[in-house]
Amino acid sequence: MGWSENSLPFLVQVVVALVTLAPLSESKLELSVSQSPVEVIYNESGILQCAIAEFTGSTLNSKNLGVLWSFTSGTKKSKAFVYTSGVISEAWKEAELLESSILNGNMSLLLKHVTFKHTGQYQCEVFIPPNDKASKTIKLEVLARPTVTVVSEKTVEVGKGGEMVLGCQLSGYYPCEGSAEWFQSTPSQAETKLLTDICITPPVKNPDGTCNVTTEVRLEPRIEDIGSTFKCFVSHKTFTEPFFVEALVTLKEAEIRLSTRSVVASVIVSIIFSVAVIALGIFLFMRFHYKVAPKVSQIQRPAQLIHQELAEFTCQVSGYRPNVITISWYLKRCNDTEEKLISEWQEDYPFHLSFIMGKKIERAGKKNETDIEWKVKAASIQKNYDGTFSTSSILEVYPDISLDNEAEIICKVIHPSNSEGISRKICLKIDGIPPKLADIIKPPVVHHNNSVMLTCPINFFKPRPLKVTWHKIIAGKKRPLLKYANEAENNLYPGKYSHCMSEFSYPDCTHSVCSMLLFNATIQEDDNSQYFCEVGHIGLKNPAEKHVQLNVKAYPSVNAIFSEPVNPVIGKELILTCKVHSFYPKNITVQWLKNEDIIMDAETPEIVQNSKNELYELTSSCTITPMVSDLQSKYKCQVQHESLMYPRFAEYIPENLVSFPKVSEITCDPATPELEKELTLTCRISDFYPENIQIEWFRNDVRMNNDGKQGRIMERSLCENGLHSKIATITLTPSTDDHQAEYRIEICHSKSSTKPFKQCYELLLKGLPKFSEFRMEPENPLYGKNLSVSTSVCGISHKNITVEWYKASEHIKHGITNSEPMLTNENTYTINSCLNFTVTAEDFERELRFQYKDNSKTDRPVFKRLIQLPLKAVPPKVSEIKCSPAHPKKGEKAILTCNVEHFCPMDVHVIWSKGWTEYKDKQSVETPKIDCKGLYSTVTNLPIVANEGTAEYTCEVWHAKTNDIIEKMYIL
Ligand SMILES: *[C@@H]1O[C@H](CO)[C@@H](O)[C@H](O)[C@H]1NC(C)=O
Ligand SMILES: *[C@@H]1O[C@H](CO)[C@@H](O)[C@H](O)[C@H]1NC(C)=O
Repeated sequence: MGWSENSLPFLVQVVVALVTLAPLSESKLELSVSQSPVEVIYNESGILQCAIAEFTGSTLNSKNLGVLWSFTSGTKKSKAFVYTSGVISEAWKEAELLESSILNGNMSLLLKHVTFKHTGQYQCEVFIPPNDKASKTIKLEVLARPTVTVVSEKTVEVGKGGEMVLGCQLSGYYPCEGSAEWFQSTPSQAETKLLTDICITPPVKNPDGTCNVTTEVRLEPRIEDIGSTFKCFVSHKTFTEPFFVEALVTLKEAEIRLSTRSVVASVIVSIIFSVAVIALGIFLFMRFHYKVAPKVSQIQRPAQLIHQELAEFTCQVSGYRPNVITISWYLKRCNDTEEKLISEWQEDYPFHLSFIMGKKIERAGKKNETDIEWKVKAASIQKNYDGTFSTSSILEVYPDISLDNEAEIICKVIHPSNSEGISRKICLKIDGIPPKLADIIKPPVVHHNNSVMLTCPINFFKPRPLKVTWHKIIAGKKRPLLKYANEAENNLYPGKYSHCMSEFSYPDCTHSVCSMLLFNATIQEDDNSQYFCEVGHIGLKNPAEKHVQLNVKAYPSVNAIFSEPVNPVIGKELILTCKVHSFYPKNITVQWLKNEDIIMDAETPEIVQNSKNELYELTSSCTITPMVSDLQSKYKCQVQHESLMYPRFAEYIPENLVSFPKVSEITCDPATPELEKELTLTCRISDFYPENIQIEWFRNDVRMNNDGKQGRIMERSLCENGLHSKIATITLTPSTDDHQAEYRIEICHSKSSTKPFKQCYELLLKGLPKFSEFRMEPENPLYGKNLSVSTSVCGISHKNITVEWYKASEHIKHGITNSEPMLTNENTYTINSCLNFTVTAEDFERELRFQYKDNSKTDRPVFKRLIQLPLKAVPPKVSEIKCSPAHPKKGEKAILTCNVEHFCPMDVHVIWSKGWTEYKDKQSVETPKIDCKGLYSTVTNLPIVANEGTAEYTCEVWHAKTNDIIEKMYIL
């Protein structure tokens, strides 16, 4: 009995252990199983419980556990489920037992779609090596529920003395013990009686072991049985509660049908009557005179009366004679003191024979006394065998729940046999149709701070009065928000909630309404909130309710992308940041895209919650290194959030991408330039972007024009990989003046930098001496003070030279000290020359020139070095006006004098005036002369003739360079 094909050594051990099942006395393993037998209903699922109740050894582990469910039916034995070493090696298709359950110590076997073949013994065996084992046996019984079929006629006519048969068949049930009983319930008697005239067929066995049985009942129904129902009650083990099936049979009063035989009989009878006319007359007289009172049934009513829906009430009247009858219907509402006539139906004597009428029946057409239009259907009269008559009166009613509930309907039958009349009463119990609530309609996404409408559809109810209450769970409790009852509204939070109703009425008086609650949803108040729509109606015992849960979302706002630095540089790291804010809930996906491709190494941002409004925000950044090719690239910060149908994004295009120019040093070709030989200075400006660039050359700080006088300036443009380059050159033939000139290039690339890029080059011509800068002592020369200006020349190859000083073109002969040429280590000579002089206003803006002449060469090249002294312009000091003589008499001549002193440069303009009169022609101004301070001074005069009274003279001095105006006044 090896129960697995797997030949694992452990398995062998398990098998041996399970097969031998050595005495379990000292085993620590105990199983608990279902109580036997386990009963399972055919085609349903059953569970065979088997669990480890106690085990004190090691813990369970898949490698250390074996489970075997074996099944015995009769003499046959098979395996339902085998589990060893963590492998389910065998299992019935319909058997289920999960490994996880096994490892929890629960070996319960689930059998699905149980059939009769599953009936038998099940053994649950568990083995835990090395020597813990246990087994238990459970019996399984399969039960089958009977299928119950009731056989009957649809309608049975009552009163003909006929018999009816009702059959109740139970089929396919197991176990075979089962029975059926018939019960009759009659409305008038309000009781249920067991029918005893039954016939039970012996149970028959089906091939699958189930049984069939039929219980039949025979009975002869009578008029009183009309309205009865018949039920077959079944008892079987599989029914926990009483089970019955009702027969679909209706009992009706029999109609008279004339058969051929009765036609023949009536012919014979009529012959007999025609023969015996007198006898007939007597018979007729007897017949009319002999009155039989009618039998009146209880008013039959529909099972349920519904507001504004047609209902029929039937009053059966039978077995009366003569055929004279009045059936009246009355209504007595709750508040009415008297019953009111609804309608009346009457059948009178076919001919008026007063002698046969015992009492004259009042038959004046009575009018409807009620305000309602209920009708009595015209009834047909049937004549019975025995000469009596039957009829039924049907009242058609549209009950109104508000008026007619608890009202009484009375059917009164008046017949000559009974002067009192016979009444039957019935009390109306009217039901409304309760509303059907559909699920509350909410918007697919509720947005924070937006208005929301919740719609509660309340359908197909009547009558109209309705109570709607909206609730919400606030602080764990259900609180009403708004109540609506019959047009009146009570809004408990008028600021927050508003309400409206839409209504629709149908022709059958049913109504449908939608109750709509409107409010502004916020995350704080409405996220995860529950709203309830509660509806109360007369048709409902308890209010009906629907609820809806809101999840409020806020969509993220994406700010514009910031770049750091603002003007990104090609090839340098650029950090893009994007702020995403005001979203809810927290879950969000932020992606960076470059031209719709996701950038992989974007940072995962930290999401923070704004404490004020509970919304979330984050700042995502992405580091990129833009290339020239990225000028047109679109960078996107894209956000996906559950509140959004489509992702939102912010875009960034690095339009302001720049690349700084790389400026090489200025080179000279030839490398060692020579006097009067053409040379080219070159500067390479490379890898800049954008293309716009300005290049300017300076020679000794003076901007060079491309007029060809000082050289040819050229530019050549190149473009490589989108970056631009320029080669700027200047070609010239140097003269002695160009020796030691400083050439400077200034490159202005305004997109990348506000400061120009500069390179300088000092042109040193081959074999020429070097002139030092001028030195001044003191450094800041002052007017009227001594100044010494010195310079030196070195690298002179011989002594045959001349040095001279000039002030403008004037050759200076005095104050010059020249040193003797001194031989240096390089075997060249150096000389120092110094000029001493007193600085005066004449030196203002005048060039001082040092000139060097090489006398050894035939063309005697001359080198000039210029300096302009850093002197300032000085405005004049103007003295008070003096008159000579001081007090001239009337008509006496006098002279007004004014001293203008210590100014520089020389240009002064003097205007004398008296009042509005200027004396340009009369005045005289002496030519300014250098004064003791080394500045200019002058005197101005105005000859006048003294007049009577006072005269006001003005002398106005304007110094052009300093733009100083000085005015002096003299009152004579
Ligand atoms: C074992 O599992 C079954 C379902 O798989 C369950 O019905 C039963 O209660 C469990 N038994 C125990 C003891 O946990
Ligand atoms: C039992 O009843 C079923 C259903 O009515 C029927 O199909 C079957 O033939 C019956 N069995 C026997 C043995 O009559």
